Amino acid sequence: MIDICRLGHTTLATGELDRQVDHYTNIIGLAVTERSERRAVLATREGGETLVLERAHPTSALLGLSFQIAPDANLAALAQQLRVAGVACDQVSDPTPCVSQAIRLLDPAGTTIDLFADTRFADVPRASIGIMPLKLGHVARLVAEAPKCAAFYTEILGFRISDWRNDVAYFLRCGPDHHTINLFYGARPGLAHVAFEVKDGAELHRASDILAARGCKLDWGPSRHNIGHNISSYHADADGNRVELYCEMDQMKSEALGYFEPRPWHADRPQRPKAWPLDTSKNYWGSWGT
Ligand SMILES: [Fe+2]
Repeated sequence: MIDICRLGHTTLATGELDRQVDHYTNIIGLAVTERSERRAVLATREGGETLVLERAHPTSALLGLSFQIAPDANLAALAQQLRVAGVACDQVSDPTPCVSQAIRLLDPAGTTIDLFADTRFADVPRASIGIMPLKLGHVARLVAEAPKCAAFYTEILGFRISDWRNDVAYFLRCGPDHHTINLFYGARPGLAHVAFEVKDGAELHRASDILAARGCKLDWGPSRHNIGHNISSYHADADGNRVELYCEMDQMKSEALGYFEPRPWHADRPQRPKAWPLDTSKNYWGSWGT
């Protein structure tokens, strides 16, 4: 089983590279670490590579995802392990400025997946610009064959299923965060949203003020989700992709215990992974949500 530790970056296609770079730098507060005519690589203010914007016009904005595996992992052995499991893959060099080697494959939805072991933090100047999230926390997707895709992520890549709604969605994790990947059943595959974690509710409040001051209104939230229990708000980037900002997501600190860190809003005590009823509202605080 592959030991994936965390989400690295996501790659989004754009026909408006300059406008997207402006949104993710001046409003979201990421820093550009590489820029060419073709693409821009952006990192958090802590130096973690988190977003690649590529000039392209595919049907979905989501081009790729990267994940970090255990830092002492042998990539050649990993590639062999994947091939034995029937997964075609290649070793690639310098996919991003902070990653020198990665194993590249396609998931069942056709999204490029890079697995890397070693990385470094980008040398990002200290500055206070925009929202400045802590990290890219999760990517939510619509996929044509969600059970098949979920099986790939669990059986090949070692993800665990945190919660699910039959015939609606899977919430998958690769660390203590409740979800790193959401797989929604969708007739039209594509990106549902990218989600950045902020420190706490006060930061989410500050982020909402920053967005409003830039003329970028929330299209939903703040609300507290029932599944994952994160406080979240949503807005659109310059391309109209949905962007979530969130905090207070459920944590499973010990896989052996099999339940999420106790929180006062959990209806189940303890809160364990489960199938949520189809009539569960997306919003613990109020109306159903969007
Ligand atoms: Fe989300």
